[in-house]
Amino acid sequence: MNAAVFGLLLASCLFCTTSGLSTDYYEKTCPQLEHAVRRVVKKAMKNDATVPAALLRMHFHDCFIRGCDGSVLLDSKGNNTAEKEGPPNISLHAFYVIDHAKEAVEALCPGTVSCADILAVAARDSVTLSGGPHWEVPKGRKDGTISKASDTRQLPAPIFNNSQLQQSFSQRGLSIDDLVALSGGHTLGFAHCSSFQNRIHNFNATHDVDPSLDPTFGTALQKTCPMHNKVKNAGSTLDPTTTKFDNRYYKMILQGRSIFSSDQALLDNPRTKMLVAKFAKSRKHFRKAFAQSMIKMSSLSGGEEIRLNCRLVR
Ligand code: HEM
Ligand SMILES: *[C@@H]1O[C@H](CO)[C@@H](O)[C@H](O)[C@H]1NC(C)=O
Ligand SMILES: *[C@@H]1O[C@H](CO)[C@@H](O)[C@H](O)[C@H]1NC(C)=O
Ligand SMILES: *[C@@H]1O[C@H](CO)[C@@H](O)[C@H](O)[C@H]1NC(C)=O
Ligand SMILES: *[C@@H]1O[C@H](CO)[C@@H](O)[C@H](O)[C@H]1NC(C)=O
Repeated sequence: MNAAVFGLLLASCLFCTTSGLSTDYYEKTCPQLEHAVRRVVKKAMKNDATVPAALLRMHFHDCFIRGCDGSVLLDSKGNNTAEKEGPPNISLHAFYVIDHAKEAVEALCPGTVSCADILAVAARDSVTLSGGPHWEVPKGRKDGTISKASDTRQLPAPIFNNSQLQQSFSQRGLSIDDLVALSGGHTLGFAHCSSFQNRIHNFNATHDVDPSLDPTFGTALQKTCPMHNKVKNAGSTLDPTTTKFDNRYYKMILQGRSIFSSDQALLDNPRTKMLVAKFAKSRKHFRKAFAQSMIKMSSLSGGEEIRLNCRLVR
């Protein structure tokens, strides 16, 4: 490869760092790690069905800002406002689950396992325990020491179009195929009205409601989210048909029943459209692609220490 091409590749990969992770990283130092995390996640899910969606999204946000370094877990301190309080923090919750998992792991192997690794394992467990695929999580991440609310501007927004989505992913070394597979995370969880308001009121000069929405579905969303909505937690589940991790999200996109403009936008490019159709048709292909892309996303690295408390730098 010539230098100019190499330079270009580096320049386009704004937020990438390579990592030396391995699935057996704690084999000698903390063999009970995965079992301990899984037990905590399973118990939390039993008490609160919103936990798996929360942990999956938390891991996504963590990886997209400064790499998967547990920066999303840090609390604000002194004059520093942390990532978790940044503008799109809407519905980030269940941080207590990671606290409990960390406590369990610290009791077994003190000062050994990073919070970033615990979150990556907990996100995988959330998917598997919801009926999604299982994969071996590469480990060995380090925790970061920086968490800034202003960094959350780097996250993709629900009003992004296809090329903005592609750019956001490619800046992190993730492909257009990763974009479509990982968007399947929207088979779990909930969205507040503000996240899809743009589609159901004053869409543009000629349409009040986004015409790509199925009319019945659009009317139902308008009813849940009136123009001057006063109900604090009003919104819609992302896949209103099931709480399982399945491929229904893609079927819903094809039916004009996706929630965000950014979901719908996956039909605006031939390659992403083809993949949406493929995953809608084949649960098997989706499961395999999702697991592969999760491993890729969760290998973006960042930090430098092992925290003792996931909310505080050491
Ligand atoms: C492609 C770009 C993406 C955009 C623009 C996006 C945007 C959003 C927005 C706006 C919400 C709703 C927040 C709210 O109103 O409460 C949300 C929820 C969620 N997202 Fe994404 N997201 C993207 C990719 C991903 C990825 C890659 C994953 C995981 C693999 C993911 C998993 C989730 C989950 C599970 C929820 C539900 C959270 C909960 O119920 O607690 N998203 N996303
Ligand atoms: C924030 O606090 C740190 C120490 O607590 C201080 O050194 C720094 O000057 C403060 N920054 C601002 C902008 O106030
Ligand atoms: C989200 O941000 C708001 C305002 O910045 C803050 O009051 C709230 O506590 C944050 N939520 C979480 C989970 O940190
Ligand atoms: C996507 O959005 C960006 C930023 O608003 C805009 O510059 C671009 O033209 C849009 N692309 C398409 C294909 O609409
Ligand atoms: C509004 O959006 C629809 C669908 O994207 C489009 O066909 C129409 O031309 C848009 N109207 C204006 C004024 O931009």
